Amino acid sequence: MILILDFGSQYTQLIARRIREQSVYCEIQPCTIDLAAIQSFKPEGIILSGGPSSVLGELSPTVDKAVFSWGIPILGICYGQQLIASLLGGKVQSSEHSEYGRTEIQFEKNSPFFADIPDQEPLTVWMSHGDLVTEAPAGFQVLATSTNSPFAAIADPEKKIYGIQFHPEVTHTDYGIQILKNFTFNICKCEANWDMAAFLETKTNEIKAQVGEEKVICGLSGGVDSSVVAVMLHKAIGDRLTCVFVNNGLLRKGEAERVVELFSRHYKINLVHVDATDTFLTKLKDISDPELKRKIIGNEFIQIFEQEAAKLKDIKFLAQGTLYPDVIESESFKGPSAVIKSHHNVGGLPENMKMSLVEPLRELFKDEVRELGKALGVDEELIHRHPFPGPGLGIRILGEISREKIAVLQEADYIVMQEIKAAGWYRKVWQSFAVLLPIKSVGVMGDARTYDWTIAIRCVNSTDAMTADWVPLPYELLGRISNRIINEVKKINRVVYDITSKPPGTIEWE
Ligand code: XMP
Repeated sequence: MILILDFGSQYTQLIARRIREQSVYCEIQPCTIDLAAIQSFKPEGIILSGGPSSVLGELSPTVDKAVFSWGIPILGICYGQQLIASLLGGKVQSSEHSEYGRTEIQFEKNSPFFADIPDQEPLTVWMSHGDLVTEAPAGFQVLATSTNSPFAAIADPEKKIYGIQFHPEVTHTDYGIQILKNFTFNICKCEANWDMAAFLETKTNEIKAQVGEEKVICGLSGGVDSSVVAVMLHKAIGDRLTCVFVNNGLLRKGEAERVVELFSRHYKINLVHVDATDTFLTKLKDISDPELKRKIIGNEFIQIFEQEAAKLKDIKFLAQGTLYPDVIESESFKGPSAVIKSHHNVGGLPENMKMSLVEPLRELFKDEVRELGKALGVDEELIHRHPFPGPGLGIRILGEISREKIAVLQEADYIVMQEIKAAGWYRKVWQSFAVLLPIKSVGVMGDARTYDWTIAIRCVNSTDAMTADWVPLPYELLGRISNRIINEVKKINRVVYDITSKPPGTIEWE
């Protein structure tokens, strides 16, 4: 396995994922773990990730120098490279010419680190840094240079220590995957023998070891992630699992019935269905701030889980389908990265929660979860469901929420789903949905003036939700959706299409 020590880059998990895509197990740990913990993973290689700090800063995160004497190959990326340089006697400076975006490098073609890259020069890579290595440590060679980075890649091949200024994990770097493959196979000598079935086995054993003979409740939303967790846990611990499905009143049309049918009848998993619509909507009354809404919804979910756990007695664990993007954008998880939104299953947890968490998907991206679902034999239709956020329609109704607005959005959203499916686009896109903009605009229908709300349609493509592109849906399809919504949904007199990518937008509007 390859161990990544995370210094807080938004891209750390992408590195892990690129390596897992090569059928080599890769795990991320915080940069703060000690030497004994690092050794306990018995890694074939260690990657020091990028991060927002500066090695020139006083309290900058670091790693014990002893790792460099173990003979285990090490690759430092961006901040990781600067750390290698500064710890091993090289020099790092704050550069006046920071490089963000595409840059061209000249590289050493004979190095195994750059093997199997077509003999083209220069190579386009993606950089994002302020600081810069200005002197390599003794014994290091220069493997690549760019106009602004004379040390774009450095190496001590004997000690198998490599440092690169650019990010091979992002798609903007040409042959970035090949570079990571070269490190994994040529330098670390890993074998490609890991897959989702192996992950499933490891995680199942971990769950069994963590849970022992105790009972677990699983927060089930009916989406891909929590469903995969539920099926996985059911296989691991059988009837000691009870799923708790909370209807917060902010679900899609028909969703509650579907979930109950699927899990209690089809999968035969113990299921408690709590209709908490009134409680949620009372707590959300007059609340318009998106983060506050997310926190209230998240807290309420946890309170209900705790109440249900108390009723079921002796429940020590709460299982959730938390994914990596939920974690990385919600909190400084394993390194110091920025908070974008509080995803409910991460941001809202109380510090004094009595149950311990079981989160087997915490390191995975959605498409990896889908692979896992397949390995588990979960139904195709469920596996391919579009993501639906925990706070549900609550963050798709801008500003204050009311029962009337929920009903309007449910109807509009239902039409969007029906038409996207009928046109054969459902499986081709990452996510599609309607957003209610409760601001009024003037229209004319049947010779009369209307003054009603707007529906925005959002349809994006993505592989991991960290970045996304809006989808150019055919005009005829958009036209049909618009016509149907305006004709069939009361209170709506205008439909618009969202043409914002992420970044700068996020997928959900709140
Ligand atoms: P954003 O809006 O951050 O969304 O670009 C990225 C992906 O995550 C989903 N999402 C959530 N999922 N709980 C979840 O389980 C949440 O609180 C939450 N907020 C956003 C969103 O639908 C998209 O797929």
